[in-house]
Amino acid sequence: MVQIINGREIARDIREKIRERVEQMPIKPKLAVILVGDDEASHLYVGLKQRACEEAGIGFELFLYPADASEPEIVSKIQELNARTEVTGILVQLPLPSQNADRVVLAIDPKKDVDGFHPANLENLKNDHPTLVSATALGIMKLITATNEELRGKQAVLVSGERFAEPLEILLAEQGVASEVVSPDDPHLKEKTQQGDILIVAVGRPHLINGEMIKNKAIVLDVGTNKIAERTIGDVDQESAAEAASWITPVPGGVGPMTVAMLLVNITKAWDLQK
Ligand code: GUN
Repeated sequence: MVQIINGREIARDIREKIRERVEQMPIKPKLAVILVGDDEASHLYVGLKQRACEEAGIGFELFLYPADASEPEIVSKIQELNARTEVTGILVQLPLPSQNADRVVLAIDPKKDVDGFHPANLENLKNDHPTLVSATALGIMKLITATNEELRGKQAVLVSGERFAEPLEILLAEQGVASEVVSPDDPHLKEKTQQGDILIVAVGRPHLINGEMIKNKAIVLDVGTNKIAERTIGDVDQESAAEAASWITPVPGGVGPMTVAMLLVNITKAWDLQK
């Protein structure tokens, strides 16, 4: 029988701890979010982040831009936010409609980069001096360790892009887990996903992975969120996956709430770095 990893419950505990911590802070942290364009999912995620900040007593300021906003305009807003001392965290919601995400992220002060996407923060993680680490990667690690399964010696397969995979590969390696990153368009996708004792899927394509593609007793982390006729589903066909997997994260209620909770953790870490 497959067991469900309850992200919502684990996230709730973390959010409560953060709320207590923020209550003790003499000056409260504040998150500034830059949201470009009108992608429905991005607006939804930012709304969830706003609510989480407000519930935790963290300040929140939103900067909306049209899809065709120029890159210098966005970069100049980031520079202004870097200089504002009461803004302790900056997040640019991705993907950007047309602007170059790497250049935009590079403009963020690494001490305020609560997504952990700045190359300096990735470098710190690689060099074993983690500062601000990708909230999604941290959240996934929490979910994997919540299974209490022995991780050392396991093989992880990550079906995703590089920005997502890189920090996660490092965190997995720290736990003795080797990982392979596979493109969702790989012609041998099925043979490759079948190798994963831990299978992590972050693509944004409903039903990309079914039970036949999952190794027996694998731990499956479904990072996808896709809206299909008002329902939110992941990238994994949960019904057939349940036949093969030993553990699985539901969608919704798995990785999503953990990403938000770990963002709050990063906001307090960034506050500490700027004290
Ligand atoms: N879009 C999808 N996931 C993320 C995330 O973790 N951070 C940001 N900024 N945008 C995202």
